[in-house]
Parts: sequence; structure tokens; C-alpha cells
Amino acid sequence: MTIRLIVNDRAHRLTVDSGEALLGTLRDRLGLTGPKEACGEGECGACTVLVDGGPVASCILAAGSTNGRAVRTVEGLAGAGDLTTLQQAFVRHAAVQCGYCTPGVLMVLTALLEEVSEPTEAEVRQALAGNICRCTGYQQIVEAALDAARAVAS
Ligand code: FES
Ligand code: FES
Repeated sequence: MTIRLIVNDRAHRLTVDSGEALLGTLRDRLGLTGPKEACGEGECGACTVLVDGGPVASCILAAGSTNGRAVRTVEGLAGAGDLTTLQQAFVRHAAVQCGYCTPGVLMVLTALLEEVSEPTEAEVRQALAGNICRCTGYQQIVEAALDAARAVAS
């Protein structure tokens, strides 16, 4: 089937297979390799992107179901080379180690911060519940998110 997709503010017209997952469309057809494949079953969050502003596991979302929708990947966060406030906070807090989980984590936290201007630590941890990080123990990620929220609010 042919779909129209807006990815990181650019419109695309693509022919996709019926069983094709959005993750494959983004990575293999559009060259957006920020979203990662790990579990491939919707359990780890490495492939998380935003569809119409909400986080989804792109490994289990049919590309065909995104016809006419807006997708944002980690590549769409930094405009003109400038890191977002959240990305800068990740650097300051050493919230990136191997980095494999980072694109998905950034997307769920971006969605949270766009919805809740000053989330509590519990809200940040709840938002991260579907994202597995094997490296950081989550503490630096949580601190970075809270720091970014404070910076945006001030
Ligand atoms: S690769 Fe999609 S949730 Fe794990
Ligand atoms: S930084 Fe390595 S899995 Fe999260």
C-alpha cells in the first residue's frame, strides 16, 4: 500500500508492505537509524518514536497504520545542529553511556516534557517504565530530565 508520512517535518510518499513495521520503514527506507531495534517485541523501548506527539514502539507498529500521521524520531530533535535542552542535560549528567537506549529514552522524555512542564521524579520514572537501559541505572537519566524541566520552566 502507498502511504503519506510526515517524518521530522518532511513529507514522504512510500509504498510499504502489509507486514512492514514502522521501524523498518524509518531505518531501511528513510535512512533514519536513530530508532534502534533490540527486542523487536515492544518490550524494551529502543525503537520508540513519536507518532502525532505520543511515544510508540515502532517495531510493532504497522507502517501502513501511520498513513497521514506525523512521526518524529531522535534525528528530528536537534534543530540546525543545536541540541535540545533535554539533550544538553543528558550530556551534563552523563546520562548516555553505550547510547543504545538513548534515542528511545529521549523521545519518551520529550513527549513527557511537552505535556507536563515540571514533572515529578515519579512522573519521569513512570514515563521511562517501558524503556530498558542496561548501563546507567536510570538515575542520571532521571536527573537529566528533571534538570531539563527546570531549565525550560525558568
Ligand atoms: S525494539 Fe521495539 S520495543 Fe524493543
Ligand atoms: S546507555 Fe546503554 S543501554 Fe542505556
